[in-house]
This record gives sequence, C-alpha cells and structure tokens, in this order.
Amino acid sequence: MPANVTLEPWGSGDLPLLERLLGDPVMTEHLGGPESPAQLRERQGRYERAEDGDRMFKIVDVESGEGVGSVGFWTKEWRDAEVYEVGWMVVPEAQGRGIAVAATEQLIELARRDAKYRFVHAFPNVDNAPSNAICRRLGFELLEAREFEYPEGHWMTCNDWRLDLGAHGQV
Ligand SMILES: CC(C)(COP(=O)(O)OP(=O)(O)OC[C@H]1O[C@@H](n2cnc3c(N)ncnc32)[C@H](O)[C@@H]1OP(=O)(O)O)[C@@H](O)C(=O)NCCC(=O)NCCS
Repeated sequence: MPANVTLEPWGSGDLPLLERLLGDPVMTEHLGGPESPAQLRERQGRYERAEDGDRMFKIVDVESGEGVGSVGFWTKEWRDAEVYEVGWMVVPEAQGRGIAVAATEQLIELARRDAKYRFVHAFPNVDNAPSNAICRRLGFELLEAREFEYPEGHWMTCNDWRLDLGAHGQV
C-alpha cells in the first residue's frame, strides 16, 4: 500500500523542518554537507516565495499531521534546454516507509499538469542508493553518470535520470 501523504505548499512556519533536513550532517551526506543557519534562512525565503514556477512542498504524514520531508521541482538549464529538476528529502524517523516514492509520484503529477517542460531530471549521487531506487521505481531512464559541482567547490559523481512527461501523450 502506498504511504499516506499529502503535499502542502512550503509555509512560513516550516523553517524548523528545513533545519532538520538541510541543516543535518547525516541528511546532507550526499549533498555536500549541512547548510549554515544563514543559508537555511535564505533558502526558507526562496521556498516560501516559489518564484518563476518553482514549487516546493512539505510532505505531510496524513495519520500524524506532521511534516516529514520536502519535495519540489524547479527550472534547470540542461543540455541546451529547460527542464524540471526534482529533489526530495524525508526525515530519518520517517524513512523506509515509501514516503519519498509516494510524495514524488504526486509531485510528478503536478509537473505533468503544469506542462511547462517535457522532461523531469533527477541527479542523485551515484552512492545514494534510496534516491537511485526512487528514480528506477518511478520509471526514470538512466542517461549517464557525470561530475557535478554542488555546492560550489564540491565535486561529486551523480547519475542523470530523466522522465519523459509526454511519454503517455499528456504533454
Ligand atoms: C532519499 C530519501 C528521500 C528516501 O526517502 P524514503 O521515504 O526513505 O524512501 P522510500 O521509503 O520511498 O524508498 C525509496 C526506495 O529506496 C529503497 N531504499 C531505501 N533505503 C535503501 C538503502 N539503504 N539501500 C537501497 N535502497 C534503499 C526502498 O526500498 C525504495 O525502493 P523500492 O520502492 O524499489 O523498494 C531519504 O533517504 C533522504 O531524505 N535522504 C537524505 C537526503 C537525500 O539524499 N535526498 C536526495 C538528494 S538527490
């Protein structure tokens, strides 16, 4: 049975959740390490403003009503085109229950309806087993592994996964 979660637009009271996600050394192991308090506050502002069609959501566990993670998409220039990039995070206590898969499925449906770009890309570190499993599970195609600089000055090898939103004729 899929995990019972809903997506809510990222809100003004969600900085503590962001701190548990991107301020945590274990959670950011594959993302270049934790962000500083100033970086987190700046990111909180960006998530709240949701400009230029970028969408960031809080993943809410329906049973408890608690915020358990984040999922979102934003525009990325990639291979001479504009595409959606997606990202996901789930707090350690809620991991391993299918929450990221269920939330990302809902997010992809929103991107499909948004219909701004044809392709969705995800770029998990090659060593990030759960994130690569999410891509595989949701029907993304693995294009290649390549070196990425993220954050600035920090290089890592990531997979380039792509999902074609038009593959079923919706776009
Ligand atoms: C990646 C992350 C969001 C997964 O969240 P989650 O809710 O635990 O994921 P799910 O329960 O939906 O599981 C996703 C898939 O990963 C698999 N998986 C989970 N842990 C795994 C592990 N340690 N090794 C291999 N596969 C694993 C699950 O079996 C599932 O695959 P399946 O559906 O084919 O069985 C979570 O681990 C996280 O927040 N990590 C830190 C942040 C991060 O790296 N974000 C991604 C940046 S690209």
